[in-house]
Amino acid sequence: VKSHQAIGVFDSGVGGLTVVRSLAERLPSEELFYLGDTARVPYGSKSASTVRRYAQMSTRFLLERGVKMIVIACNTASAYALDTLRAEVGVPLLGAVEPGARAAVAATRVGRIGVIGTLGTVRSGSYPRAIAAVDPSVRVTARACPLLVPLAEEGWLDDAVAEAVARRYLSDLRDEAPDLDVLLLGCTHYPLLRPVLTRVAHDVWHHDVLLVDSAEAMAAAARTELERLQLASAARAGGLRCFVTDDARIDEVGARFLGRPLDGIERVDL
Ligand code: DGL
Repeated sequence: VKSHQAIGVFDSGVGGLTVVRSLAERLPSEELFYLGDTARVPYGSKSASTVRRYAQMSTRFLLERGVKMIVIACNTASAYALDTLRAEVGVPLLGAVEPGARAAVAATRVGRIGVIGTLGTVRSGSYPRAIAAVDPSVRVTARACPLLVPLAEEGWLDDAVAEAVARRYLSDLRDEAPDLDVLLLGCTHYPLLRPVLTRVAHDVWHHDVLLVDSAEAMAAAARTELERLQLASAARAGGLRCFVTDDARIDEVGARFLGRPLDGIERVDL
């Protein structure tokens, strides 16, 4: 593996572009290859074995393009497939769960964390496991919030509907965990909903709740890992190549997640 090679990033669809955004900010010299499995999104409601199989196909696609590292931007795929992929793949592999867990443990003062994510991410139990591996004294409550993904894709980010949905999910979590002080955003889509989630969390808990973003934590971990392995690019400017398995609505929705227009999207089959 050589430092001039690209970093491969994959996700179930466009959501992982929030991770690309964070990666591009922290690692501006890196070439990024993004693969969004838009033909088969969502992963969040699918079974572990299906998600694992899809993740293996995406990984193979990126390896064939000669990447030096793979970032599993999708929390659901990280939750279900990271261990399987680690056993199979020869390049460094980074998922969402471990960096997110570490960032949440570092942020909590009272040792009480709430995690929100897809059904799959919550069902896998991987965040509570990863948090226990960092600090077994921290208590974790996880809540699946499946409606937040379509809301973010629709661009209903901070209106009455988004607020009502967020309030319902977070009130449930508050009933189970009234004393938490950190809410871990364990899904690619949630950074877009950060303003409404912050406001509703504040309202619902009546005390400060710090929102920790797994996309940011992943980007920070990728930089640390590249430096540790002496694989950081020495190029003056990086770039982004985008591959998708279906291109319907990709321009509009993709730009919302990336924060700027996407150009040169290539449609591929896995
Ligand atoms: N990318 C997924 C995640 O972070 C959300 C969308 C989906 O369900 O595929 O869990």
